[in-house]
Amino acid sequence: MDRRELFAAGALGAAVAAPALIGVPAWADDDDRPRPSSRRPLVVGHRGASGYRPEHTLASYELAARMGADFIEPDLVSTADGVLVARHENEISGTTDVASRPEFTARRTTKTVDGLSVTGWFTEDFTLAELKTLRAVERLPAVRQRNTVYNGLFEVPTFTEVLELRERLSRELRREIGVYPETKHPTYFAGIGLALEGPLVAALRRHGLDRRDAPVFVQSFEAANLRRLRSEFRVKAPLVFLAGAGTPFNDPRPYADYLSPAGLAELATFVQGIGPEKTMVIARLADGSLGAPTPLIADAHQAGLKVHPYTFRAENQFLPVNLRNGTVPTEYGRLLDELAAYIAAGVDGFFTDNADLGVLARSLAA
Ligand code: G3P
Ligand code: CA
Repeated sequence: MDRRELFAAGALGAAVAAPALIGVPAWADDDDRPRPSSRRPLVVGHRGASGYRPEHTLASYELAARMGADFIEPDLVSTADGVLVARHENEISGTTDVASRPEFTARRTTKTVDGLSVTGWFTEDFTLAELKTLRAVERLPAVRQRNTVYNGLFEVPTFTEVLELRERLSRELRREIGVYPETKHPTYFAGIGLALEGPLVAALRRHGLDRRDAPVFVQSFEAANLRRLRSEFRVKAPLVFLAGAGTPFNDPRPYADYLSPAGLAELATFVQGIGPEKTMVIARLADGSLGAPTPLIADAHQAGLKVHPYTFRAENQFLPVNLRNGTVPTEYGRLLDELAAYIAAGVDGFFTDNADLGVLARSLAA
């Protein structure tokens, strides 16, 4: 059994789990002044330990925590009856077995979500009770074939179940496991009468997590959503603005504008960090190899913002070309070297599908 198989089986999960104290946000006291970057970047288990389990399942989150992740990351969408559940998108044919359920054949439909036409089955057309009859499947079966052994085993979890898991694991592992929820398609859900903000804030408050020093980051690709959480819902927990190519939905300002020094200073009035796509932090060269750091980390730190780039994955196809091992896209490449470069560049945390390797990379850099 090789190292990867051991991790996939969860056998080394406890062994690699660093005896880490969670990274309590540096702004956890009453002082709002910008701080120098923490020397210990946070490891965020992206969709749990999605390199080893079907994403956004309790099994995936639990494995990430046992591997040493500081935070687990649920993406959130709504059911028909207004319950927040963990899915990367509201169309669920790629991550559940819904397409094989004859009782739900008639629910297949086409909708426009954030300006795109999408065909499939949507969480907002299912009650929680109906959704709970489905089972998760691996999103990337051609890339992560080993994860398909878990197809059909796990439910779609509610956000409340994720928070309960977080509490249980924090007690058992004797360190606070953080939660990093993302509102998915918030404008879309508000438009169909299933706004995400109210249930999200209520759940955080029910679990004592709406505090400035809570082990929480609430993230969104929509700045207006974060502004609303801060100003209308009076959320105290830290917020993170996600950024990628192009323009946020329903917003004329491109992400690049938000990430300019002036844009970052404005963001700092209502968020505590940014979550940029990783090539915005270290650019790729024309040939696809890893280039040099951009000014983004320095600019963000100047504005008092943390920087948590996404998404770090072990397979060659997700790595810069100079950090691949061989030519098979699904084989593992040099993720540890990629992470070393980002840690050296000064990131405050990072989202990774491979929490075990994230923890190892951080240890190697210490
Ligand atoms: O939330 C950080 C990262 O997860 C954003 O990308 O598409 O994986 O949610 P996505
Ligand atoms: Ca996410």
